[in-house]
Amino acid sequence: MKKSLTLTHPGRREILIAGGTFATLPLLSLSGALAQTPADTKIGVVGSGRLGGAVGTIFAKAGYKVMFSSRHPEELKDLVASAGPNASAGTVQQAIAFGNVILLAVPYKALPEVGRENAAGLKGKIVLDACNPIPARDGEIVKEANANGVGETSQKYLPGVRLVRAFNSFSGRTFATEGHRAGEPIGVPLASDDAEAMKIAEKLVRDVGFEPVPVPLARAREFAPPGPLFTRALPVSELKKELGIISQ
Ligand SMILES: NC(=O)c1ccc[n+]([C@@H]2O[C@H](COP(=O)([O-])OP(=O)(O)OC[C@H]3O[C@@H](n4cnc5c(N)ncnc54)[C@H](OP(=O)(O)O)[C@@H]3O)[C@@H](O)[C@H]2O)c1
Repeated sequence: MKKSLTLTHPGRREILIAGGTFATLPLLSLSGALAQTPADTKIGVVGSGRLGGAVGTIFAKAGYKVMFSSRHPEELKDLVASAGPNASAGTVQQAIAFGNVILLAVPYKALPEVGRENAAGLKGKIVLDACNPIPARDGEIVKEANANGVGETSQKYLPGVRLVRAFNSFSGRTFATEGHRAGEPIGVPLASDDAEAMKIAEKLVRDVGFEPVPVPLARAREFAPPGPLFTRALPVSELKKELGIISQ
């Protein structure tokens, strides 16, 4: 058994997974609208609950313009106030139009509906998908995600988006409290087959004080339920070891 750092999940499993392979994604130049500064990257948050609220807030505090959304945007006043001057609120459609990056944090069973109702708006956007299939909450779609892979299932219901599985592996509370911590940063696993989207996700992770660990989309299942790395907020070197990634 490996020792893992205890942050906010006292019940987290401590299981050593078999080392996998790491495919190095080619480096592509970043396109204009999604360049390197927070000012160039606008984030629309769909699902502004515990996870979307916490991660959207750390983006806003890192200097990114963030539009939180809800089907009841008038209920987001307190969240917007606490996230500061870079934050605003709107409808789901407005947040999707606003963002060149979308943070998706709705119950997994809502993915098909969100994808269907916003197909045109989401097309071509980078979507950071933090949604996890949870049996007690999400019903039938959990079987599909477990059988076919959570990354593959999200991509199926979000056709045409540039998908990165991100910010789903541990709690919103940990994202809110452990960024820029002293010592070795916590690793955040990211899964995507889109090299450019991955680079942008990696920068976002670094800008909020964590260290990204990129893997191909097919490996998203390893850090979503019921995968061995789900709920584990590990120092980046430990996370890489668990994923079988050799540090250079
Ligand atoms: N909580 C965590 O720490 C955590 C950590 C990692 C991953 N996640 C994952 O992140 C997702 C959100 O979890 P959460 O804990 O933040 O849940 P939550 O607090 O219940 O928030 C979910 C939000 O999704 C919105 N929503 C629900 N159905 C929707 C739909 N059909 N269309 C648009 N928006 C919809 C709701 O917003 P309105 O009702 O205001 O529209 C709600 O505020 C889940 O998939 C969860 O597994 C959560």
